[in-house]
Amino acid sequence: MNPTQLDEIRALADQFGQALASASSATAAQAVRDRYLGRKGGIVADLMQQLAGAPPDARRELGRAVNEVKQAIELRWKTYQTEAEQHARPAGAVDVTLPGRSAPPGRRHPLTLVRDRMEAIFSRMGFAIVEGPEAEDEWHCFDALNMPAEHPARDMQDTLYLAAPIMGESRRPDDLRTMLRTHTSSIQIRYMQAHQPPVRIVAPGRVYRRDDLDLTHTPMFTQMEGLAVGDGISLADLKGTLTAFARDMFSPSARVRFRPSFFPYTEPSAEVDISCWQCDGAGCQMCKRTGWIEVGGCGMVHPAVFEAVGYDTERYTGFAFGIGIERVAILRHQVQDIRLFFENDIRFLEQFPI
Ligand code: DAH
Repeated sequence: MNPTQLDEIRALADQFGQALASASSATAAQAVRDRYLGRKGGIVADLMQQLAGAPPDARRELGRAVNEVKQAIELRWKTYQTEAEQHARPAGAVDVTLPGRSAPPGRRHPLTLVRDRMEAIFSRMGFAIVEGPEAEDEWHCFDALNMPAEHPARDMQDTLYLAAPIMGESRRPDDLRTMLRTHTSSIQIRYMQAHQPPVRIVAPGRVYRRDDLDLTHTPMFTQMEGLAVGDGISLADLKGTLTAFARDMFSPSARVRFRPSFFPYTEPSAEVDISCWQCDGAGCQMCKRTGWIEVGGCGMVHPAVFEAVGYDTERYTGFAFGIGIERVAILRHQVQDIRLFFENDIRFLEQFPI
């Protein structure tokens, strides 16, 4: 028995500690433990065996040293295990150090893109953007727009009638039904009831009609209403405004044509056609060889409408228009089927700019 052998034995505990500290996994730690404490071939077990062959005078001291180191190693292993247990992740825990899954950025709906663009154009011309309720009453949607009960123009805009009163308003008399608005023209009435001229607004929003689904019809679609009221507003102002809109929205060389039409709330009334921006009026597939594309209706506000909201019909004149937002989107993006806008198929929606 010599002192170096004793030192070597005593150093084993620290060596075990270092080996354990550098083990990078539970399996590696277990392997270190087995290397030192394994019953067969373990370093401590080997030492025990060597003890038997040691000279009797050295055996006691050696035996004590081996026992001490064995206990020290076992203690370290126990401590290591307790710590590992304390730091172990509970089953099913989330590893917050893993890189995240990135969510693809969302994008605006094509109809929103078109509506925003239209709003920007009219804002630049000084129009305020206003909204109104989708659940509307008959008076704002029809009567005040010079369409009394039984007026044939109501037939074209059949809609869903509701049992409930409009939000924030008390129940109305039974003869004034609540309904889903059929056009944004009702917002003209609501705005004029609350404001005196001059008025210059555009009002985008959803409208509802009893239409069967097909390539060009959905029971819900969106419109943008326009209204300007003041002193000396003329048909020329209406045409100038719509021409400026068409040039900004479609093509710098766009022209606007009015086709005589009828709406109970305007006189005169017109359908608005815009020269086809694809063939510049020469005739192509998009404009069905006519050179013109219809985008909405318009006219000079009928005095009966001013009367309904209490405006001075002798003093004020005004113009109004209604443009179909889907119609503009379909034309701008060459969409074949209006239903695509509402089916929410990502493959369709992804094709529009963010
Ligand atoms: N309200 C009409 C519709 O839904 C569109 C319209 C036509 C609006 C003429 C107007 C207008 O303001 O003057 O078909």
